[in-house]
Amino acid sequence: LAVALRKFTGEPTVADSVVSSDSVELVLSDLGAKVSIMKQASTEPEKGGLKTPRFLRKYEPEVWASFPLRPPVVTVMGHVDHGKTTLLDSLRNTNVAASERGGITQNIGAFSVSLSNGAMVTFLDTPGHEAFAAMRACGTQVTDVVVLVVAADDGVMPQTLEAVNHARNAHVPIIVAINKVDISGCSPEKVMNDLFSYAGLQVEQIGGDIQCVLVSAIKRQGLENLIDAILLQTELSDLRANKDDPGEAICIESKVSKGLGSVANCIVRWGSFHVQDYVASGRTWGRIRRMLDDRGKSISLAGPSTPFTLVGMKELVEPGSFVFVMKDEEDAKLFSEKLDSDIYFKKLQQTALQVSLQRASEK
Ligand code: GTP
Ligand code: MG
Repeated sequence: LAVALRKFTGEPTVADSVVSSDSVELVLSDLGAKVSIMKQASTEPEKGGLKTPRFLRKYEPEVWASFPLRPPVVTVMGHVDHGKTTLLDSLRNTNVAASERGGITQNIGAFSVSLSNGAMVTFLDTPGHEAFAAMRACGTQVTDVVVLVVAADDGVMPQTLEAVNHARNAHVPIIVAINKVDISGCSPEKVMNDLFSYAGLQVEQIGGDIQCVLVSAIKRQGLENLIDAILLQTELSDLRANKDDPGEAICIESKVSKGLGSVANCIVRWGSFHVQDYVASGRTWGRIRRMLDDRGKSISLAGPSTPFTLVGMKELVEPGSFVFVMKDEEDAKLFSEKLDSDIYFKKLQQTALQVSLQRASEK
């Protein structure tokens, strides 16, 4: 059946592929077999068993189209001090950059913005300082779009190139934002040419297909163009998720917090999380005691693309790992006990890469 389906769809059918009963019927009747489909097989694993996240499963186009659209998760990356946090401040109307120690971002901050047209975008700030390479690599794993910030006065620098590599490795589309264009004597054209020479990144202005906008985060210039570019890319990517499924999130940071115990900052990739849900991640599990939104307010529900803080895990969640809503306490416990995390994460990484390669080749 797998071979016949492969011929029919032109794609390999791997374990956990979701294939519609229509395709199965068509293929089998083509082979001369008579088919009656009695019951859809469950794609759920045994209790506590390993599973491929729904977020990474392969869906047929008509199944995919039945899921609602979700907001994009946009990660802002670039060299230290090129203005990432200031740019996000301007988009969010707050003033985080001014309160950071030494003006340097030391963690990944995530927050949602609702745009004037009603669309939501989830932004992720990342540190540009060279010491935080692992955090940047994690940032690209949870994202749908990378906004690459390059200061027009400083130009293409080592962490600019590093960010391009992370985005490419994760097959995430890039939008270039050339910042600080208010500084006299700066040269956005040089930045464009250098991006091409040093990273092979060819922006639209010089004949390529990468969107590139000129902005001044401080003077709040060009922000509308940046948002338009993000929305255009979002449309092209056709981002969807089923909010009614059990939640799947990726942890971007975790820490022990006074009074709350171990907390995990996560971004929902699929389904929804509710207070009191049982959850598991790697070797730890728990029951959600509280959830906080990006402004520290208690919430009872977090749907696709929402950044939230999860309170209630027994131990620290490893950044970069999936957090799953489980059926019940036994399911959550068994999952964390059974998990051979090395094999599991290797398999997950391979699946993630396969899926993103496939999605990239479909576009
Ligand atoms: P890291 O998080 O440490 O990588 O830095 P960052 O990229 O977040 O830079 P940040 O937003 O902290 O800004 C660095 C400096 O550049 C600050 O002094 C900002 O005021 C300044 N800056 C940011 N945007 C602009 C701009 O559009 N024009 C000018 N002239 N200065 C800017
Ligand atoms: Mg910053």
